Amino acid sequence: MTLSPFLKWSATAVALVAQLCAAQTYTSCNPLKETCPADAGLVKPTLHTVFTSGQSAFKHWKTTSGTVRSTSLGAEFSIKKQGDAPTIESDFYIFFGYVEIKMRAANGTGIISTLVLESDDLDEIDWEQVSTFDNQIQTNYFGKGNTTSYDRATTVAVSTPEEIFHTYAINWTPSQIEWLVDRRVVRTLNYADALDGENFPQTPSRIKIGIWAGGDPNNAEGTIEWAGGETNYDDGPFNMYVKSVKVINYNPAKSYTYTDKTGSYSSIMAT
Ligand SMILES: *[C@@H]1O[C@H](CO)[C@@H](O)[C@H](O)[C@H]1NC(C)=O
Ligand SMILES: *[C@@H]1O[C@H](CO)[C@@H](O)[C@H](O)[C@H]1NC(C)=O
Repeated sequence: MTLSPFLKWSATAVALVAQLCAAQTYTSCNPLKETCPADAGLVKPTLHTVFTSGQSAFKHWKTTSGTVRSTSLGAEFSIKKQGDAPTIESDFYIFFGYVEIKMRAANGTGIISTLVLESDDLDEIDWEQVSTFDNQIQTNYFGKGNTTSYDRATTVAVSTPEEIFHTYAINWTPSQIEWLVDRRVVRTLNYADALDGENFPQTPSRIKIGIWAGGDPNNAEGTIEWAGGETNYDDGPFNMYVKSVKVINYNPAKSYTYTDKTGSYSSIMAT
């Protein structure tokens, strides 16, 4: 039903979060508009990160907002006050693949726990857990930053995602995207069903994990409504934990280059 958290933020940004917003929507170069440097790929076919093992676990992850630390429950993403939105992203791109996280979503009202795959031309595949509703999680996707229709999201039932760890995965291929909860497919999007492929996410993407306050009183009314109400920071801190991330890159490569401005997967050259 909604915009991606990242796009939504850019639409509703206030001074306080402007910098963060820029970080989250930042595409230093949009390959559909200009010629861009190649994206660094994940060369190994697989990468397994266990965030309980200390700060060295963050080797392939850079913190783009706030502070994220290793704890016995995994990487801790904590909102303690207004404006907090700790986020990490992979220092590599994958070009189709499988991404799985073991996550306990944040508690409270209006807090959004997210796993996002996002490309330089703003293809996006999302998991978004809205803390207000402790029995569901949402899936969403965007192609080339197209937000004109808001019917892409679905809601999936899941038991107490803020109390217990579940496994959330995205299996992304050129023909379809599957969202899985505890290894069970809960949604399939076929290429043709995304505006004949035009809106189908299909370009090399980074993996972003983070939380933000959809219920921040400064957000647009529609965003707060979607988030299930206003966040009261006095009830915090609101913590999301990610125990581990498993990544399989279906096209391991040193780099990915857009050879034209179509944003089509067939235009991407893997080196
Ligand atoms: C964006 O997607 C909508 C359908 O969801 C489509 O009607 C529209 O043509 C698309 N816009 C562009 C620029 O591709
Ligand atoms: C989440 O909040 C509810 C209501 O305040 C509380 O009962 C529960 O213990 C909290 N869960 C966690 C994991 O903090």
